[in-house]
Amino acid sequence: MDRHLDPAELDAALRRDVALGLTSRPKTLPPKWFYDERGSELFDEITRLEEYYPTRRERSILAERAAEIAELTGARTLVELGAGSGEKTRLLLDALPLAGYVPVDVSGEFLGDAAAKIAEEYPGLAVLPVVADYEHHLKLLPDGERKIVAFLGGTIGNMVPAEREGFFTGVREILGEGDALLLGADLVKDERRLVAAYDDSLGVTAEFNRNVLRVINARLDADFDPESFQHLAVWDPGQEWIEMRLRARGRQDVRVGALGVTVHFEDGEEMRTEISAKFRREGLERELAEAGYRVERFWTDAAGDFSLTLARPV
Ligand code: SAH
Ligand code: AVI
Repeated sequence: MDRHLDPAELDAALRRDVALGLTSRPKTLPPKWFYDERGSELFDEITRLEEYYPTRRERSILAERAAEIAELTGARTLVELGAGSGEKTRLLLDALPLAGYVPVDVSGEFLGDAAAKIAEEYPGLAVLPVVADYEHHLKLLPDGERKIVAFLGGTIGNMVPAEREGFFTGVREILGEGDALLLGADLVKDERRLVAAYDDSLGVTAEFNRNVLRVINARLDADFDPESFQHLAVWDPGQEWIEMRLRARGRQDVRVGALGVTVHFEDGEEMRTEISAKFRREGLERELAEAGYRVERFWTDAAGDFSLTLARPV
């Protein structure tokens, strides 16, 4: 496994993000820190929830279009950013004439296990997992002929617009002629369905949200009491994104040992832990065009809930 983030670098990045986020007004934490091994498992559980439609919808598009993607791209190398379990990816691995698969993720242990399973199932495929941050390490990823860079699951929605712009431009810079970007993005829809998808009745998403506090406790010697924070999922109709927040139940002081600070929360104070932006076709196409792509195909599932875009560098 290639590592562009060793545990010490991960801790340093977490320290920086937490120091900045907990001193901002309002307080924020970046979503990449949900995903230690338990966070990755909780996300996998989310993907199987009745209310969480994106994974099922994206899988149905992939099942329907994988052969067409193979024909259009003839891709020999699949680089998958934020690969997670790679469960849906198998539809691409089955259809594309691949020589190599490069799953990239910050969640190292989970990535290692997922990649080992795939290597076992696909003996002819060179599987090279890379622990890296796709917001910083794109240029360090292994290259390959006829590359397709996949960014699935709607994870693009977890970036604010300025981050998305940087991400699209960064990916564009590692694409050569004949390469392609395959992008999964969730679409704007009825508010009730959106909120239910991020506030499920079994409370799995609430646990996932609170997991960021457990990660900070474990890695930065902090003493958050996760149960003293309530999970919230709020639709922002202006920004067209879901905001996940943690709301303090009662005034509390939290010691973050590794930073040598104590952070105060007022009763009811809300901290943003994730945005999950929902898209419209026009907006996505505009953002991609501005970053130097042309859209070759734009597919949705039959219900029009989720989208998959195949884009080429221009
Ligand atoms: N692509 C999978 C998983 C989506 S969950 C699917 O469609 O189901 C988002 C994944 O991105 C997680 O595995 C998480 O660990 C990873 N991730 C989040 N931020 C990241 C970053 N900055 N760099 C690399 N991986 C990241
Ligand atoms: C990974 N990402 C696309 C998920 C989403 O839907 O925004 C993360 C998630 N957050 C809460 N539930 C799932």
